[in-house]
Amino acid sequence: MEVGVLGATGMVGQHFVRFLEGHPWFKLTWLGASERSAGKKYADATDWRLEGTMPAGIADLTVSNSVPGPAAPKLVFSAMDASVATEIEQAFAAAGHYVVSNSKNHRMESDVPLLVPEINADHLGILDAQAKRGWKGRIITNPNCSTIALTMGLAAFKPFGIERVIVTTMQAVSGAGYPGVPSVDILGNVVPYIGGEEEKMQVETQKILGSFAGGELVALPAKVSAACNRVAVVDGHLVATSVELREKATEAQLRAALDAFAGEPQRLNLPSAPARPVQYLAANDRPQPRRDATRDRGMAAFVGRLRPCPVLDWKFLVLAHNTIRGAAGAAVLNAELLAAGGWIK
Ligand SMILES: NC(=O)c1ccc[n+]([C@@H]2O[C@H](COP(=O)([O-])OP(=O)(O)OC[C@H]3O[C@@H](n4cnc5c(N)ncnc54)[C@H](OP(=O)(O)O)[C@@H]3O)[C@@H](O)[C@H]2O)c1
Repeated sequence: MEVGVLGATGMVGQHFVRFLEGHPWFKLTWLGASERSAGKKYADATDWRLEGTMPAGIADLTVSNSVPGPAAPKLVFSAMDASVATEIEQAFAAAGHYVVSNSKNHRMESDVPLLVPEINADHLGILDAQAKRGWKGRIITNPNCSTIALTMGLAAFKPFGIERVIVTTMQAVSGAGYPGVPSVDILGNVVPYIGGEEEKMQVETQKILGSFAGGELVALPAKVSAACNRVAVVDGHLVATSVELREKATEAQLRAALDAFAGEPQRLNLPSAPARPVQYLAANDRPQPRRDATRDRGMAAFVGRLRPCPVLDWKFLVLAHNTIRGAAGAAVLNAELLAAGGWIK
């Protein structure tokens, strides 16, 4: 299947280009960006910021304007600047494209799935409600990068009844894009504020861990309190989490739930699915961003230090690679689920 990337010249767009290189199902044939880049070769329009060189075969593609139409593939990933993503993604969906978006703009809309395929693949059931907007295509979103880490750490505990969650994040600088946080602010420092991040983590977590019932997405009525911090780490968001559960569980039960956790991507053996999406690291100094974030192609979440919490019930750490599992890799996995599940009509 031919695919395109909206916002291909940006930081997240570059991650899409790299993640899609050699993909067994998807061939990247179309790149969209702003009028500033349209008409130029991708190599000339893009300041390549990732490790290694730009994938061969992509450098010579001509960047297009971000307008829907027959030249753009049916399936497009979106890494659009948030200031323009609403109108452009909607225009593509109206014209019959399937927009698998990494942008925040549509995540919390009631007819848009906020997908973590291992957790809530059934939320795709809401997709047909988008036909009421007169769209021939659809919009599917993935969560904010820190929310993906948190929800993957929490999902295995959902059967015990998640009541309250308190999280403190240690978020990598790559999550701020390029040029991101000025070096003089972050080197040897912690910045205890990331604009809008705490609110996103709180509501997105409730939506993802919620249910699809009676034709609606129903948020999990758990209280979530987030404190978000930028730290001097390159890649990998580490999230310290405390959780209160309705049913009292033992450590052995929780560990067994983490070990057994899997979902549709594993059942369908999707190309980007990690064999074990959540992996418990027993050493008491793990997970660590530098040592663990890129394991399993950056697509798994790593949990460690599960121990009793004297305030809530249990506390633990969870780590996920923010630009892979938290952005481009997440969207590609969503698209694989759409393709394998026959959702792309
Ligand atoms: N950075 C991250 O790690 C991260 C993580 C999760 C989510 N996100 C989200 O992903 C999105 C992209 O972030 P980013 O850091 O990659 O941003 P970025 O580097 O600034 O790239 C923005 C992209 O949008 C394009 N664009 C800007 N204005 C446009 C317009 N008027 N019409 C069409 N295209 C336009 C740019 O094209 P030109 O090059 O032609 O200007 C570029 O391709 C944002 O919504 C962000 O919130 C980012």
